[in-house]
Amino acid sequence: MSDTTGNPLDDPTADPFEVAAAAAADIARLTGVDRHDIALTLGSGWGKAAELIGETTAAFPATEVTGFSRPALEGHVGTLRSVRTPKGRHVLVIGARTHYYEGHGVRRVVHSVRTAAAAGTRTMVLTNGAGGIKPTWKPGTPVLISDHINLTGDSPLEGATFIDLTDLYSMRLRDLARTIDPALDEGVYCQFRGPQYETPAEVRMAKTIGGHIVGMSTALEAIAARQAGMEILGFSLITNMAAGIQTTPLSHQEVIDAGREAEPVISSLLARVIGAL
Ligand code: HPA
Repeated sequence: MSDTTGNPLDDPTADPFEVAAAAAADIARLTGVDRHDIALTLGSGWGKAAELIGETTAAFPATEVTGFSRPALEGHVGTLRSVRTPKGRHVLVIGARTHYYEGHGVRRVVHSVRTAAAAGTRTMVLTNGAGGIKPTWKPGTPVLISDHINLTGDSPLEGATFIDLTDLYSMRLRDLARTIDPALDEGVYCQFRGPQYETPAEVRMAKTIGGHIVGMSTALEAIAARQAGMEILGFSLITNMAAGIQTTPLSHQEVIDAGREAEPVISSLLARVIGAL
């Protein structure tokens, strides 16, 4: 599906869960795998993990799947893969993220998560590149997401859908990740709308209200994953110190470069965590 024509999610009368079910049927047909066990969304810096998790049994452009959009950004690979781990588990690797700042609405943002749920997955691993507020986190540091503050003012939930978000980022899975790397720190992720980076004042606000990480994805996706009943593990790669924490201006290139540099180390960490799930 292209960005401008015929995405069924752009029809406000469409049921997003039916679109996700159609997408899951596409994935079953394209992969030959009826049910996937784990879903993994790859943010900037995490891309190499797909190769380390196991054997890729199918890979195709996300645009072959109902409701998926073209990737908006260089550095965000628009590929979906089915990977078989050594334990024989099927991992749906989502290398195509629609960001809220693209302005296509939350239904499109969380479509990959709903599709993963419709494809059978019970565990959702969300990764991203983000800015760090804790000064001890140097660029290239991977951190666990312990909770989030959704500053978008939006939600993937429609109507009076009251959903508990206690333990949204599963303590059990965070503990499991720390058995692989005991040095993993964790923090609260603040999702801003973007696409502009935050002002130093916004970063100070995020810190004051209990945030440690600033980014432009993940919180809305995590809410949709919880609605679907999935257990969630979230990882941020700190690609830069947040605005005002670092005194030099932020650039998208800096974020991409930090991701590239950290990629081998964090991807191998992620692959080991997935192997332990
Ligand atoms: N802020 C928001 N999103 C980001 C950042 C940041 O500093 N770095 C990478 N993604």
